[in-house]
Amino acid sequence: MEMTIISEQEKEKLRQSFLKKRNSMDTHEIKNYSRKICDRIIHSTLYQKSQKIFTFVSFGTEVDTTPLIIHALSNHKMVAVPKVFSKTRKMIFSRITDLNELGKGHFGILEPPSSLLREETSDEKTLFIVPGLIFDIEKYRIGYGGGYYDIYFKKNLSSAITIGVAYDFQVISKIPRESHDISLDWIVTEKRCI
Ligand SMILES: Nc1ncnc2c1ncn2[C@@H]1O[C@H](COP(=O)(O)OP(=O)(O)O)[C@@H](O)[C@H]1O
Ligand SMILES: [Mg+2]
Repeated sequence: MEMTIISEQEKEKLRQSFLKKRNSMDTHEIKNYSRKICDRIIHSTLYQKSQKIFTFVSFGTEVDTTPLIIHALSNHKMVAVPKVFSKTRKMIFSRITDLNELGKGHFGILEPPSSLLREETSDEKTLFIVPGLIFDIEKYRIGYGGGYYDIYFKKNLSSAITIGVAYDFQVISKIPRESHDISLDWIVTEKRCI
């Protein structure tokens, strides 16, 4: 119990400091690094073999996933993006066929409107692109503190591959982890694949 409390506080400190660092990036840097990250993924065998791309839609200073979504849609891959239900703390992935289908949802994040939900489930042909504030080289992740991805992956255990995307400074040697935290398969930054 003691350890859990310490981890929560440590995570919160890290979140604040890394969010501040990320929010101080300029728009050219964000665009340039995001393009490099998306290109790395697009050129990977993992992506090329995947039929379903389950990806977040970026908000604020997050790695911009738009180039990846556009590439996947125009290459006839199925694309699904998160829809969050904050009251029940639930997240589902819903299929999109065009970026224009998205509208502003909770916190101003673009997501499919309730009238256009097409829930999809992941399988072994699915590649997940996961956001985060901090990652470590053992592929653990700290998100915004909602635990949405931990909850989702616990419920939807599948053979899907998970890739965390981040700017290189967001990857540190070790982050405090709690028993519910789920690790990813890969981390992709503008500089390296881990
Ligand atoms: N599988 C789960 N079932 C229920 N609650 C969970 C689960 N995973 C995480 N949580 C809850 O979500 C909250 C946030 O988790 P945390 O790992 O700190 O956030 P994040 O992963 O977004 O950084 C925690 O209070 C935790 O208890
Ligand atoms: Mg977590």
